[in-house]
Amino acid sequence: MKNPRILKVGIDFGNSMSVIAADNGMTACVPSYVGFPKDMIARKLLGKEILYGSEAVKHRLSCNVFRPLELGVLKHSDHIDENPAGYKQTIEVAKRLLEHLIDLVTNGRPEDYIIRAVIGAPALASENNKQGLLDISEGILDGVQVASEPFTVAYGMGLLNNALIIDIGAGTVDLCRMQGMFPSKDDQLTTYKAGDFIDNIFFDLIEAKYPDANYTLNMLKQFKEEHAIISNSSEKLYLNLPINGKPTALDVTEEMRQACRGIVPDITEGIKYLVSTYDPEFQAELKENIILAGGGSQIIGLSEELEKYMLATLGYGSVKKHPDPVYAGANGALMFCKDLPDDEWTETKNRTKQQSAKK
Ligand SMILES: Nc1ncnc2c1ncn2[C@@H]1O[C@H](COP(=O)(O)OP(=O)(O)OP(=O)(O)O)[C@@H](O)[C@H]1O
Ligand SMILES: [Mg+2]
Repeated sequence: MKNPRILKVGIDFGNSMSVIAADNGMTACVPSYVGFPKDMIARKLLGKEILYGSEAVKHRLSCNVFRPLELGVLKHSDHIDENPAGYKQTIEVAKRLLEHLIDLVTNGRPEDYIIRAVIGAPALASENNKQGLLDISEGILDGVQVASEPFTVAYGMGLLNNALIIDIGAGTVDLCRMQGMFPSKDDQLTTYKAGDFIDNIFFDLIEAKYPDANYTLNMLKQFKEEHAIISNSSEKLYLNLPINGKPTALDVTEEMRQACRGIVPDITEGIKYLVSTYDPEFQAELKENIILAGGGSQIIGLSEELEKYMLATLGYGSVKKHPDPVYAGANGALMFCKDLPDDEWTETKNRTKQQSAKK
């Protein structure tokens, strides 16, 4: 094809949600699940060879369903030698998910474009984790840069100086301090108590209180996404679960609060560390500019809880929620992608060569 147009995209591959934003105005977000029908009956029933996102979850009984990410990075990418077959499978599944995201923003015609992408990775992703992202891009993208996820959120908001971004995802909470340049390792922290951790605690607490109730982790996750709250409120939360087959309204108010609170201590420790080790002249401004992003930032009362903590330990602090937590990372990555000069990209037409992970 003659002179294909350059399409720039920002991608946020998450444990829970994979999000893409492209400079043709198209965006998409897909839960990070890929399903393959288990047998010919399943294939006949579903009428396709591969299912993505919510559709894969919905048909999980007739599909082998994979989540290619764990703790914010591609599964097995830190220990490839221990499980080369598992890593190979992860790469294959993640490739299909990436292809799907690209199809969604190109109306199924990726061949019409030269595709340049900035892909987000957790703040402290290892070189192996980043290499995994380059590996999955092979044959799908023409040029790739890997950037820290909270950095992309900051970039998208134009908060390049004296700001602290806290990206609360499913597998990780990533904290990143911006001080007017690319954040270094010293500016970033990752904690592993995030959305999945809340779901597991919630599961255990309900199991202890209602041993006869039947439910799955996925049911509790969905309920959490509608009702997550950390603050004390007089309103009771009731979850309808079957007990001996009969739907029963169960009071889970305290369990929800307790589970959501589980992620707070590590976040507050991270805030304290990144503020107290910052240049003292600019600490006051940093404390004014704390931004929550990621799905977990929507927990009701979380920003107030963190402000209360900062008031008690750091004098004061202002915590704001990103207005678009789901797209914050992908939109920021796209903005960064658009700003990168042409000489940063060395894509080839046949989509076989990637750049090294520089950022
Ligand atoms: N309204 C909500 N309240 C509380 N938690 C929510 C809400 N909506 C989504 N979540 C949780 O946020 C998490 C997903 O957030 P996000 O999409 O930012 O994560 P991710 O990018 O997929 O994960 P990671 O960054 O760890 O790779 C999940 O644990 C999800 O259950
Ligand atoms: Mg994320």
